[in-house]
Amino acid sequence: MPTNARAAICRGNEHPFAIEDVVLDDLQPNELKIRMVASGICHTDLAVRDKQLPVPHPIVLGHEGAGIVEEVGSEVSVAKPGDRVVMSFNSCGGCPSCDDNSPTYCYEFFKYNWDGKRPDGSSTMTMDGEHMNASFFGQSSFATYAVANERNVARVPDSAADIPLERLSPIGCGLMTGAGAVLRSMKVRAGMSFAVFGSGTVGMAAVMAAKIAGANPIIAVDVNDDRLALAKELGATHTFNAKDDAIAKISELCPKGLAYAFDTTGINKVIEDAFSLLTFKSVLGLVGASGPEDMLEFNEITLMSQGRTVMGILGGDSDISNFLTELIEYHIAGQFPFEKLIEYFDFDQINEAIEASEDGSVVKPVLRISPE
Ligand SMILES: NC(=O)c1ccc[n+]([C@@H]2O[C@H](COP(=O)([O-])OP(=O)(O)OC[C@H]3O[C@@H](n4cnc5c(N)ncnc54)[C@H](O)[C@@H]3O)[C@@H](O)[C@H]2O)c1
Ligand SMILES: [Zn+2]
Ligand SMILES: [Zn+2]
Repeated sequence: MPTNARAAICRGNEHPFAIEDVVLDDLQPNELKIRMVASGICHTDLAVRDKQLPVPHPIVLGHEGAGIVEEVGSEVSVAKPGDRVVMSFNSCGGCPSCDDNSPTYCYEFFKYNWDGKRPDGSSTMTMDGEHMNASFFGQSSFATYAVANERNVARVPDSAADIPLERLSPIGCGLMTGAGAVLRSMKVRAGMSFAVFGSGTVGMAAVMAAKIAGANPIIAVDVNDDRLALAKELGATHTFNAKDDAIAKISELCPKGLAYAFDTTGINKVIEDAFSLLTFKSVLGLVGASGPEDMLEFNEITLMSQGRTVMGILGGDSDISNFLTELIEYHIAGQFPFEKLIEYFDFDQINEAIEASEDGSVVKPVLRISPE
């Protein structure tokens, strides 16, 4: 039976998000119906609202959802009704990247995450009997219910039974990306220098992960002093304000250069400065979204002769089932205290939550959608 739900409709940045009635479709065999408890808000939601990414409007966004399974399709084995789950991105499961357990680089990523409908073209959501774009990252979590796919759901392990779902909700995007970039993509080594440029959700997760990896020093750069203070609390050994000659200060601190640099700002000048700080056999990881016209300049001899790597990173090379569980275990052990980034808002305060994210006062806004 179709499910009535309330969803926050995005109609572009000239309009506030509006919570309206929608209907969710019956499940296909590989799908789950999830009652949403909470959802984080991420910059990618806002990039889509602002039409920086080619995703159709109007649409129900949200891709950091957590909730409780109410119903499963006949082929679902990842979770059963009553299970607590977190959601992440979707993937096809049949391309060379998916076969290689690298689903963040799925050849069909767009179709499975950004098309506004299921990969077979059908609608998971309607409004007044008409198609409503949804299935965003296989979930569209800014709603009271979501239809998700077997491949983008992770069951919360029993060891985390005491941790509220609303806290776990943001784990499937920015947190996983920053931590995965350090632990899985760049494979930061103990005792080596690490600097992150941009200390938002992704950068803070990277700082916590760099501490887990044993990097030293761990340097955080931002333009916001409050964020730098928090980065220090989370494990940064040094923090520098980008407006205050951070590049010269990092050179002074690491005269032989940086072993690992990680850019989360997407700003050309920041990335090129980070490249200039690298040492032999170093890695510069890139995740920040930038404009389609932005081009980077590097000297080829410098890149080659020092064996530097410039690495594009999506989703921190995460796989859903293993890495999300690993991060939850780090959280339980007190090594990944991401609750310090979160501020909660009621679902109907979604526009206030977005504003708090955009003015920099809140690192990770999380919407409370229904009680657990
Ligand atoms: N590649 C991926 O898989 C992936 C996944 C999630 C997010 N992202 C992208 O990563 C980026 C970071 O995400 P976030 O959620 O952490 O965003 P955020 O806005 O919270 O963090 C960016 C930080 O950069 C800081 N900053 C701005 N200018 C700076 C400068 N000149 N020098 C240093 N710091 C500066 C800001 O103050 C802010 O704290 C976004 O572009 C987002 O779209 C990519
Ligand atoms: Zn995101
Ligand atoms: Zn794939």
